[in-house]
Formats: sequence, structure tokens, C-alpha cells
Amino acid sequence: MSQEPQVCVLLEPDWASGSLAADVRRGLSSYPRTLPPRWLYDDRGSALFDEITRLPEYYPFAAERSILEAHAEEIVTASGATSLIELGSGTSEKTRLLLDAFTSAGQLQRFAPVDVAEGTLRQAAADIAARHPGLEVVAVVGDFTLHLAHLPAGGRRMVAFLGGTIGNLYREERAAFLGALADVLEPGDSLLLGTDLVKSADRLIAAYDDSQGVTEAFIRNSLVVVNRELGADFDPDSFSYVPFWDPHMERMDLRLRAEVPQRVAIPGADLVLDLAMGEEIRIEISTKFRVSRIAAELEAAGLDVARVWTDEAGDFALTLAVKG
Ligand code: AVJ
Repeated sequence: MSQEPQVCVLLEPDWASGSLAADVRRGLSSYPRTLPPRWLYDDRGSALFDEITRLPEYYPFAAERSILEAHAEEIVTASGATSLIELGSGTSEKTRLLLDAFTSAGQLQRFAPVDVAEGTLRQAAADIAARHPGLEVVAVVGDFTLHLAHLPAGGRRMVAFLGGTIGNLYREERAAFLGALADVLEPGDSLLLGTDLVKSADRLIAAYDDSQGVTEAFIRNSLVVVNRELGADFDPDSFSYVPFWDPHMERMDLRLRAEVPQRVAIPGADLVLDLAMGEEIRIEISTKFRVSRIAAELEAAGLDVARVWTDEAGDFALTLAVKG
């Protein structure tokens, strides 16, 4: 019989609506107007993202999985970890490859997935506990930018942050996040970081402007979330989807453009927004990296790069960095 997973809830019950209102007020009343991408993952957004991962054009998902398929054992050995913490774990789909390798090595005592989506997290934790009897599973309902200090302590820990999600953060946010993480790690603990790599603009644009329009629906859903959670009256169909590659910042920039001038009331954020025709709201950035830049950002935070793995095509990288 497997142990029931422990669930540790760090979020206040009204955390979501409170911090959404603050994010929306801050983001929409400054220039360029932005909506933070963490709000893209409501039930519909999560389902759409799932669909994105199965699109032929969206290479990062398969690329990262192929790295884990080829190198999970090396990762496990190189980390020497006895405790695996996964930030933004979602369904932990790819992490299962790591967990299987840890289990074969008989090395792992604890798995702690961390996510804001409580339902998905509970389900994933229960599945994993059933598949790995004897493994202590501690699910943490929390936000990885806020709750790093509350990650389960003990053992030698490896923190996995996969999917290229760090690319959604701006440079200063990445520095703050990596610095805060390095602060809570003990010497010998490590970070396994997934990053998408710079490649041709054609392939990048295809990955974020897919022919079936799934990415467009995913980005447009952000306005539906604001309508529902904050009582706003955005008309999502009056916006067009504008994805572009910014070659100077080396990032995809995914925006919605108002096709008609409009006034939007957002009572839950205490905001009335006047948009001119053609005005844009940035919904998400997805930064692409070079291996040298990943190393520089990690080293600046006090994390020493131990190993870097890429897929055969060199599309995606997994970097293991150790707290010195
Ligand atoms: C889940 C953040 C890695 O940036 O590629 C996919 C999200 N947005 N298509 C990414 C996303 C549009 C994705 N991450």
C-alpha cells in the first residue's frame, strides 16, 4: 500500500483574486501594457496549453522530453539528490522520467511538487505516490516566486524547474528568482533548469503562431480570465493576436492588439481602461537563451554549472547547477 501524499497549502484562500487584481492594475496602467502570464493557466488555459504541447510546430516540449529520456540516469547520478522538488510542476508529466530513474537508482526519499493549481497537483501527487511506494510525496500548493523559503528541507535536494518557464520572466525577475532560490539552497543542493535555445525566427514564430490557432486561443483566454475573475467586460474578439520575435531581446513577444478603440471596465481591479485603435497588450514573453548566457545568469546567482545537456538538434537545454 502506498502512502497518501501529504498536501501543504501555502496560499491564502483569496490569494488568486487579490494578486490578480494587483497584477492587472499594475500591468495595464503602465507602458507597454502587460498582463502577467501566470494567469493564463485556468482550467481552459491549462487544457489549451496541453494541446499546444501536442502541436507539431511546438518543438520545446518534445525536445525537453527527449533530453530526459536520453539522460535521466546521468542527471540523477550527477545531482546525488535524495529529495526532488519540482517548481510549477503541473501534471509532472516529464518528471516521471526523472522519478523512474531515481527509483531505479534507489536514491530518492522525497518528491515535492509545487504548483498553484491545487486540483491538478493533488491528482499528480496521488498518481506518483501510487507508482512509487515508499516514496514520501509532499505536494506544496504555492507560488514559486513567493514560497521558496518554505520548500521542504532535508536531504540533498535537487530543484527542477522545467519547460522553459523561466523564459517567461524578465531579466531582473530571473535574477531575483535565481538569487532567492540560491539563498534557500544548502551547499550541494542543485537546480535542474530547462531553457529553450535561440534558433531561426521562422521556427520560433511557427511554434507560437501555429496553423490551428491553439496558441492564439491560449493567449486570448487571458482576457476571459480577467472578465471572469474581476468582472471585466473585455470583448476578446475585438483583439487580434500579434506574436513576434524580438531579435534584440532574443525573446518571443506575444500580444493582443485592439482592433477598435474601446473602453474596458475592470471593477475588480478598480480600473477603467481606454484603448486606442491598434493599442497592444503584452500577454507573455518567452525568452530564448544561449548556453553561455544561462551559465552567466546562474553563476551570478551563486549557482555553479555542473553539466549541460541538449537534444540532438540543439533546440533545448537542461542545465544542472550546484550551490557552492
Ligand atoms: C510553458 C512557459 C514554457 O513559453 O513556450 C507556449 C508557454 N506560450 N505557447 C512557452 C507558451 C505560448 C510556454 N511555457
